[in-house]
Amino acid sequence: MPRSKILKIGGSVITRKDAKTPTLNRKHVRQIARDVARWLKKSDGRLIVVSGAGSFGHPLARAYQLNAPHAQKDALGFVRTTASMLNMAQQVAAIFHAQDVPLCPIATSSVFTTADGRITAWHATPILHALETGLIPYLWGDAVFDLQHRYRILSGDQVMTFLALKLEIGELLYGTDVDGVYTADPHRDPQAAHVAEINDANYAQVRELLGASAHADVTGGMRGKIEELYRTPKRPLRAVIYDATRPRNTYRALRGKAVGTRLVFRAPPA
Ligand code: IPE
Repeated sequence: MPRSKILKIGGSVITRKDAKTPTLNRKHVRQIARDVARWLKKSDGRLIVVSGAGSFGHPLARAYQLNAPHAQKDALGFVRTTASMLNMAQQVAAIFHAQDVPLCPIATSSVFTTADGRITAWHATPILHALETGLIPYLWGDAVFDLQHRYRILSGDQVMTFLALKLEIGELLYGTDVDGVYTADPHRDPQAAHVAEINDANYAQVRELLGASAHADVTGGMRGKIEELYRTPKRPLRAVIYDATRPRNTYRALRGKAVGTRLVFRAPPA
């Protein structure tokens, strides 16, 4: 789908991830909604928004072991998690609608089915129809039905790369709480260097650097994100990983301006 983009907003941006109860980060959501509104005025491109779950999903998923590879799972835990995500989607949508942005929540748990955690079936029509009628489909990381394990967690990152492949969308934006990719954890290591661009030529080298870092939390998560992106056999594939907690950064990313780390893959995955 030409001129389409997918924006993923991480759970640590969209929620207060460390909160004990599900808490939206209203300031960040408002900033991002404003940036999307600004972009919509200047662009006739299409957009899909995917978000993480943060404090609306992770504590419940952990408590009910929804991601464990066994089928003895608590059915009530599953519906409590999907309901919590619907609650988050409703709050996010209300903030976007206040900025006149036509964000259209489409429940991930109703659209995707997985087998052992990977998507095997989905229902494209609501997403396609929303796009064709000028809406912005909004999906999120969620608990979903899994063929082997009854229920399983499906991350927003997998939803994003799956949609990129199926809908042939080659522009992916990752709004995170860090300014892109660093060679080590920038909060702890003064030697950490910012990586401006990852491409076919330096992919393997950057991946090794992230793997070698002692701080698996930050760079390990980043390594997973980059690997998932690289393995998605859509080419050319352009992405940006940027700091979505900063005002106007989402607007800049949507406009294709230099923010965070750019990723450009043209050659098929090795
Ligand atoms: C997790 O989705 C979904 C649930 C725990 C229900 P993500 O992996 O996309 O969420 P974040 O970005 O880590 O919060």
